[in-house]
Amino acid sequence: MDSSPAAPAPSLGSPATRREGPEKVTGRARYAAEHALPDRAYAWPVPATVARGRVTAVDTAGALALPGVLSVLTPYDAPRLGPCDDPTLRVLQDPDVPHRGWYVALAVAETPEAARAAAAAVRVRYDAEPHDAVLHTGHPAAYTPEVVNGGYPAHREKGDAAAAFAAAPVRVDCAYAVPPLHNHPMEPHAATARWDADTDGDGGGDGGGGTLTVYDSSQGSGLVRSTLASLFGLPPDRVTVVSEHVGGAFGCKGTPRPHVVLAVMAARQTGRPVTIALPRRHLAAVVGHRAPTLHRVRLGARTDGTLTALAHEVTTHTSRVREFVEQAAVPARVMYAAPALLTTHRVVPLDVPTPSWMRAPGESPGMYALESAMDELACALGIDPVELRVRNEPDAEPDSGHPFSSRHLVECLREGAARFGWAAHRTPRRDGPLLIGTGVASATYPVYVAPSSARAHALPDGTYLVQINATDLGTGARTVLAQVAADALRVALDRVTVEIGHSALPQGSVAGGSAGTASWGWAVHDACTSLVALLARRSGPIPETGVSVPADTTASAKQKSPYARHAFGAHFAEVQADTVTGEVRVRRLLGVFAAGRILNPLTARSQFVGGMVMGLGMALTEHSTMDPAFGDFTENDLASYHVPTHADVPDIEVHWLDEHDKHLNPTGGKGIGEIGIVGTAAAIGNAFHHATGCRIREIPLTPDRVL
Ligand code: MOS
Repeated sequence: MDSSPAAPAPSLGSPATRREGPEKVTGRARYAAEHALPDRAYAWPVPATVARGRVTAVDTAGALALPGVLSVLTPYDAPRLGPCDDPTLRVLQDPDVPHRGWYVALAVAETPEAARAAAAAVRVRYDAEPHDAVLHTGHPAAYTPEVVNGGYPAHREKGDAAAAFAAAPVRVDCAYAVPPLHNHPMEPHAATARWDADTDGDGGGDGGGGTLTVYDSSQGSGLVRSTLASLFGLPPDRVTVVSEHVGGAFGCKGTPRPHVVLAVMAARQTGRPVTIALPRRHLAAVVGHRAPTLHRVRLGARTDGTLTALAHEVTTHTSRVREFVEQAAVPARVMYAAPALLTTHRVVPLDVPTPSWMRAPGESPGMYALESAMDELACALGIDPVELRVRNEPDAEPDSGHPFSSRHLVECLREGAARFGWAAHRTPRRDGPLLIGTGVASATYPVYVAPSSARAHALPDGTYLVQINATDLGTGARTVLAQVAADALRVALDRVTVEIGHSALPQGSVAGGSAGTASWGWAVHDACTSLVALLARRSGPIPETGVSVPADTTASAKQKSPYARHAFGAHFAEVQADTVTGEVRVRRLLGVFAAGRILNPLTARSQFVGGMVMGLGMALTEHSTMDPAFGDFTENDLASYHVPTHADVPDIEVHWLDEHDKHLNPTGGKGIGEIGIVGTAAAIGNAFHHATGCRIREIPLTPDRVL
């Protein structure tokens, strides 16, 4: 047995279990609404019941007369807010109603029940105007914006796609529709806010005085802090935001949401700590949704399958509050070698709730359309759909011409085909009333990285403390950051403690864009490496206060890479369609991913599986319906918005390639939170077509569409 005290086994790549697991399963982990501050009150907002118009009167008398009610805030008397880039946060500032569900009042009371009763007793009168909530491609208000979500140009064209398409010997020209979708994290949005009186004794001069502490369910408490500081006229150092545990998000907690502004307003108004926990029924209209997308995809090819033209045109909606454009044609700029390539977006501002991020915004709906069209082309050509994709593998990123930092899509397709038994399952079969078939689709997601800072401490007892305001949405961030630190420090994992989730810590980037681990890991790696170097230079014991080193990756993370950096993957699905009931079920789902270095196989697998389950929901069960009469979504709870249950999800198989990419960041990871959902719905839809011979170009594949 080797008893040498040399470097411990590497932590990165090992299946370390979640550090917060015991806290969570024993109920000790506290979420934003669970901070039981002494004397706290509760707030409940009042949503608008018209889709467009103005509030003309708010009668609060009935609400204020109820027992335990402390206050009712209205657009006329709520605290005035300072500047903010996000107009969806300007709640209770004016009587305009831009969509149904927009908050028009806020009740504050001693208990959640009293607040809810008070909110129901508020009488709001409106001047309603005619509204328009229906998206269609020929909408007269449609326009092409400058940029789409993510800052990408809305329109790109290389070559003459229309002419190349017209001249192509084999063509597919198809329209696809992806409905509005909702994130519905397990924990609805919640915040607890507390104002403390002017403690520095300077008597004010700080825009109202005092300090503000907020517990928020957010993907990035740093942005919540700076936003609240601006909205409430405080210097940021008087605002503390804590997001210690977050019960899922998938994008809808990526920026501050109105609930946190309302909690702070209510706390200021009443002088009490205030908790607001949005009922799930409010989420659909208030915290964002994946905007519906209408796609036209044209593919032109030679008879050998090589693409000569690829055109992906997307029409989507946004609200009248803010322009948000789902970048669904952007992945078509990355995928296949077509000499003529057109990708463009149009957006229609409607009287609808403001859309926002939902897991793989852009890629998820975009790759549903593109990968469905590739399947249609394979059928038109009589070429195997795996082979068709392989034949169109580009040697550089098609739109930009930049070389890929690494791209192993073909390897994912080949390995997936082998593991799935693709060749052996290419004949559709029948089992009683069931039609059974298989399908494939590619996946891609960009590599993002954002500036972060961190601090590493060596403590006199031989342990280490790493601090960074990162957020763990349930992904295992604490665990993997400890692994990054342990390896950089060259110590065993159990000697490293990680502190995250608090805005007083060195600022980490938002937990979004699958960039958390890469961005935070970079700062943690740099801090720990510097600490090792410092410790090597000094002699003697570590002082009582420890030795600590900061790091900040702003310069390195902002450096523009000469490489096109994306993760890739391949999904394989086996689907059965019941010819009697119209029920479609996934029998098998297998994904293979090339996403750089996989840092923790346990947490990584959960990320991939979670994404694929969400993609399965997108294919078969999930959708929101815009009600044209009311201008709001009809599905606003989990009884009507059908996320897949255990009974809907087969045994999902996930594999990954050992991908080494030197052009990323010190951890070598590409990000894995989103790619699992990309392409899954197309693989399932393609399998449905293989099984039945029917092509349904609108998801989900619910029995009413199938029969
Ligand atoms: Mo993710 S949709 O970037 O939070």
